[in-house]
Amino acid sequence: MQISVIGCGYLGAVHAACMADLGHTVVGVDVDVTKVDALNAGIAPFFEPGMPEMLADALASGRLTFTTDIAAVKDCKVHFLTVGTPQRKNEKAADLTFVNGAIEALLPHLLPEAIVVGKSTVPVGTAARLSDQIQESCPDAILIWNPEFLREGFAVSDTLSPNRLVYGIRPGHDEATLVLDEIYASALHAGVPRIITDFATAELVKVAANAFLATKISFINAMAEVCEVSGADVVQLADAMGHDPRIGRKFLNAGLGFGGGCLPKDIRAFMARAGELGADQALTFLREVDSINMRRRSRTVDLAREVCGGSLLGKKIAVLGLAFKPNSDDVRDSPALSVAAQLQLQGASVVATDPKAVTNSAKRFPDLVLTESLEEAVRGADAIMVLTEWQEYVSMDPYELASLVATRTIVDGRNCLDPEKWRSAGWTYRALGRPQL
Ligand SMILES: NC(=O)c1ccc[n+]([C@@H]2O[C@H](COP(=O)([O-])OP(=O)(O)OC[C@H]3O[C@@H](n4cnc5c(N)ncnc54)[C@H](O)[C@@H]3O)[C@@H](O)[C@H]2O)c1
Repeated sequence: MQISVIGCGYLGAVHAACMADLGHTVVGVDVDVTKVDALNAGIAPFFEPGMPEMLADALASGRLTFTTDIAAVKDCKVHFLTVGTPQRKNEKAADLTFVNGAIEALLPHLLPEAIVVGKSTVPVGTAARLSDQIQESCPDAILIWNPEFLREGFAVSDTLSPNRLVYGIRPGHDEATLVLDEIYASALHAGVPRIITDFATAELVKVAANAFLATKISFINAMAEVCEVSGADVVQLADAMGHDPRIGRKFLNAGLGFGGGCLPKDIRAFMARAGELGADQALTFLREVDSINMRRRSRTVDLAREVCGGSLLGKKIAVLGLAFKPNSDDVRDSPALSVAAQLQLQGASVVATDPKAVTNSAKRFPDLVLTESLEEAVRGADAIMVLTEWQEYVSMDPYELASLVATRTIVDGRNCLDPEKWRSAGWTYRALGRPQL
């Protein structure tokens, strides 16, 4: 099938490559010429495991091209809308400028019976408005809202094998779902559940799922706050709670909290939209979820100050990890990067590193001292802060590192290290929500 993917960022570029891998002919459109040139040259503009290989194969097959020219979509039967929906400046609500712009640009090029498939995360009510707009200009074209649940770091496998497919449609548009079924045939044959809903439900599934995940993380981080004042151990607490199948252990990892290009802005936009609809009370708890999450960042800075003897001034701190999560180079609203910047602002001499996110971090905080080398970051450090749980940090050898640092002190911002291993090698080990021994 001839498909277009409009917006080739973390979601769209992976989606375009995966659709070509499934045998469709795909044109990816983006307004960013640098991104388009890189993609056409086979260079993924971001780090995502499996993406370089997927991109190279898809380009070599001749089924995938990228362009800045929206007119190139004119022969496509299906158009996936994957543009960004960031937080509006100085507001909680989502900025729909890119969604609106992409639809405006697309309308003149729609085939009479085209199907537009919305994948961006949008405030509830957006799909109904866009559907009206599309039908006004192209009466037989149809909009389906098909929210995306992929996780960065697993984007390729999540796109090819999602854990569910949700199609939001207008009543009477059931036939169009067959076209999406054809596109997702391999996932559907593998038994992936497909849920057909109205527009509002499909839009809400995405933000409700993110609100739930954010709440689960902030719940255990709130427990960490109580552990910190009572001497309890939040990791043991989470392990013991997680054995209850009604609770489960996943997303109960206490630490520096959530960040990235989705969870923080999605829960804020959800609150803003609920407020517009008169249901603000329903989501006031998300304000607390957000506050708990942000408090973890300041608590981590406080912990750094504590291990440095009460003042950060002039202390050399090695920050390991800058991406908002491992296996990603994404530093959008990254807790690790925000803590690194805070430490520096408060007088510490920070040297930060990350296996993949150094370049993106330098763009956001040009004054931060960054290095690609773990060894260079930790040399002469008064304290090491592990802020993103990359495997190479989890498996560090405390004996090897001991000869490089000035003081054997490590702060585990992700509860990803084995305290026993570090303490028995002579290190002072501190972590969020765990007792100081
Ligand atoms: N990143 C994720 O893990 C993820 C997961 C699920 C859902 N989402 C949602 O998907 C959407 C995209 O997220 P992302 O992380 O890929 O964002 P992104 O910022 O990485 O990519 C968005 C892309 O859209 C492009 N764009 C903007 N206006 C355009 C236009 N008029 N025409 C063509 N391209 C245009 C931008 O240049 C950019 O490359 C958001 O709504 C996000 O919430 C993201």
